[in-house]
Amino acid sequence: MTNSNPLEHPLFKIISEASQELHQPSYVIGGYVRDFFLNRDFKKDIDIVTVGSGIELAKTVSSILPEKPKVQIFKTFGTAMLRAYDIELEFVGARKESYSRESRNPQVTPGTLQDDLERRDFTVNALAFSLNMEDYGTLIDPFNGIQDLNDSILRTPLDPDATFSDDPLRMLRAIRFSCQLNFEIDQASLASIKKNNDRIKIITKERIVDELHKIMLCPTPSIGFLLLEKTGLLPHILPELTALKGIEEQEGQRHKDNFYHTLEVVDNISQHTEDLWLRWAALLHDIGKAPTKRFSKKVGWSFHGHEFEGSKMVYRLFKRLKMPLNDKMKFVQKMVMMSSRPIALTDDHVTDSAVRRLVFDAGDNVEDLMTLCEADITTKNPKRFKKYHKNFELVRRKIVEVEERDHLRNFQPPIDGEEIMTTFNIRPSKEIGIIKEYIKEAILEGVIPNEYEAAYNLMIQKGKKLGLTPASNSTDKN
Ligand code: CTP
Repeated sequence: MTNSNPLEHPLFKIISEASQELHQPSYVIGGYVRDFFLNRDFKKDIDIVTVGSGIELAKTVSSILPEKPKVQIFKTFGTAMLRAYDIELEFVGARKESYSRESRNPQVTPGTLQDDLERRDFTVNALAFSLNMEDYGTLIDPFNGIQDLNDSILRTPLDPDATFSDDPLRMLRAIRFSCQLNFEIDQASLASIKKNNDRIKIITKERIVDELHKIMLCPTPSIGFLLLEKTGLLPHILPELTALKGIEEQEGQRHKDNFYHTLEVVDNISQHTEDLWLRWAALLHDIGKAPTKRFSKKVGWSFHGHEFEGSKMVYRLFKRLKMPLNDKMKFVQKMVMMSSRPIALTDDHVTDSAVRRLVFDAGDNVEDLMTLCEADITTKNPKRFKKYHKNFELVRRKIVEVEERDHLRNFQPPIDGEEIMTTFNIRPSKEIGIIKEYIKEAILEGVIPNEYEAAYNLMIQKGKKLGLTPASNSTDKN
């Protein structure tokens, strides 16, 4: 636990002054207090509860501050926000809340600090420091939140059924905090989440995705996904992942459990990248395996075309969860689509042309793709593990070599259609496409380098074969 003063910042004195002026007791509450005791980095947002009007308190605080920051008012929620010293302050009046069963919109009535604290999600978030003259800095901890912080336990202040029913998003928050802080969810709360998991359906997709992103960005995201699975929340949110669960056996042949494999891949990649979308790609890289799974005596288990199917599923999944259908989605699709490509190169003999094609297709994402594929190695056979990694190292080296020679990422053909038309004095026609493709293939196969002169000569050669005659001023560049 930290020894520094949690109320050191001059803002707290100003809030204290404002609450005295309004005769409204005020408290700093929630994540700020929790994170102070956990010695976590201060996230630059602070929640203030006041017994009275949060909006009035915000206005008074603003009037005391020299720069008089703008107060943003959210009338429906009775809250107000302002920015000062690069900190976001949120003000709310202490309340008794009750939520209707069908929506998240609370019916709010004013309440005491105790009412307010008991309506919060977890005991570790129901902690407050007084900002009042008579007991400035005193910790208020009516539900033994400090004890739970010390024991690394997430527990609801009230009966968990009531807390989760008030706001079902809290079921996801429990899992997210557990993953972020490495805390256990207490048994009663866990049982309540299992019982109430279908209530998550009243929560907006945006808020769900926000929590999913936070789980994804944890050092070990599998902690969160295993809890989502254990509590039965996963099928409501990401049924594509639930569908990967299980091992089937036919004719003595088994396939691996692709759900647990996926979680391993996500944990692996999280050691190498903080990129949220690359982590999403890892989570979704095998989702096409459920619908494409087949068994035949001849080949055993197969998942033919799962990358293509998976990349189509990425679109549907993003759309359903109201995630952005932009370049981030396209990136995830591309990673899923190409996720087996480098593995095909891990045979003992990696040809330059195969590497060239990989760089050509992956473009600027080739390093990300390699990171994904390395994370995909989850074999428990140490010999194979070493071999695959060594092969990928070789592929990475070849990528560098090929790049140095041919600069294939963001490939621009050295000869364009315009030049083909002038060289042979022809109008737009299918021959142009044929010549262009021929040159591209020759470069990818390594027949010629990705350079103008070589491509020019090849164009002349191919054009002649197609019955075209170079205009008189077009000469061989040799
Ligand atoms: N809170 C709650 N139920 C919710 C959301 C929030 O009871 N569904 C309460 C908790 O007391 C929480 C506080 O509101 O501490 C502030 O919420 P928020 O800023 O979302 O969370 P933090 O706890 O600050 O943590 P983080 O910023 O990591 O989300």
